[in-house]
Amino acid sequence: MKFDPLKEALKIKEEIIAWRRDFHMHPELAFEEERTSKIVEEHLRDWGYKIKRVGTGIIADIGEGDKIIALRADMDALPIQEENDVPYKSQVPGKMHACGHDAHTAMLLGAAKIISEHSEELNNKVRLIFQPAEEIGNGALKMIEGGALEGVAAIFGIHVWAELESGIVGVRDGPFLAGVGRFLAKIIGKGGHGAAPQYAIDPIPAAADAVLGLQRIVAREIDPLESAVVTVGRIQGGSAFNVIPESVEIEGTFRFFSNELGDFIKSRIEEIIENTARAHRCKAEIKTEILGPPTINNREMVDFVREVAEEIGLKVGEVRKTLGGEDFAFYLQKVPGAFIALGIRNEKKGIIYPHHHPRFDVDEDVLPLGTALEVALAFRF
Ligand code: NI
Repeated sequence: MKFDPLKEALKIKEEIIAWRRDFHMHPELAFEEERTSKIVEEHLRDWGYKIKRVGTGIIADIGEGDKIIALRADMDALPIQEENDVPYKSQVPGKMHACGHDAHTAMLLGAAKIISEHSEELNNKVRLIFQPAEEIGNGALKMIEGGALEGVAAIFGIHVWAELESGIVGVRDGPFLAGVGRFLAKIIGKGGHGAAPQYAIDPIPAAADAVLGLQRIVAREIDPLESAVVTVGRIQGGSAFNVIPESVEIEGTFRFFSNELGDFIKSRIEEIIENTARAHRCKAEIKTEILGPPTINNREMVDFVREVAEEIGLKVGEVRKTLGGEDFAFYLQKVPGAFIALGIRNEKKGIIYPHHHPRFDVDEDVLPLGTALEVALAFRF
């Protein structure tokens, strides 16, 4: 690199912030990112990128060479009512960028501009992936189906990170975010009068036992040094104090850091619900599915990120694993790469709320750092 990426990014800091605020004021939910993607596409065309549309997603290439390095940003918002009182507050009732994907889009747009200005210095081709629908977990799959990874040698993505102090680049070898599973079960008995249980088959105690049984998967069957979660998030049954209902529904999620463990938990959930129901003379209908794999970073790529970040003057630290999920995992199943956290927590500015919180916000001073890191990764690869 004959230029300083951090200096270049700081030069366009106000522009990056303006983009972020514009996206923040106009949040769009999964697969509805029409406005956002239109703005992104117009800029990319102006800067000379070759564009391929995948619905509301964009694949944009620049440079020459055999190897392709890919950089990814997600663009979707959440169905949350914003409670921040800021000039750039969401203008759409019930929708908010509460995970920072507005920042991701703006940072990568900033990187796109700088990369295009220096494209003759690139050693390889660079591909920018602006993807829809991270929050519902299959935007990445749609982009992969649309050819986003064709010819790609490595992929990187940045997520602003509320748990980390502002400006810290958080890296982690191996598993970083969890795989996500979901289950839905209906325990079916026989309804009747609350005063005559002998003529009914009560699904409520069966459901209660099943919920307790599910808690023992993590507590009693998984290596205590591993991390996993089984949460029942919904239990529903009955309509009156003196009526035994016909059925009870149980719904929940499970999280894991290896595919084997995900399969194990899935099958144990099925066995426990089915057999607990049978012990109570009930029947069970169970649906379980794994929505996404764990996000597993490649060690070599993480070392590369650490090296490049330090080289351009950024502070690098370790980021903790989280049982949250991230569809970047689908890219990492196919090509080596790293998902990178960028700290945005700033107590002085009151930026202390977690992701998906109605008062979540981003320390905007961090945005040019993310842009600079993306540019540096593209040129140093
Ligand atoms: Ni997110």
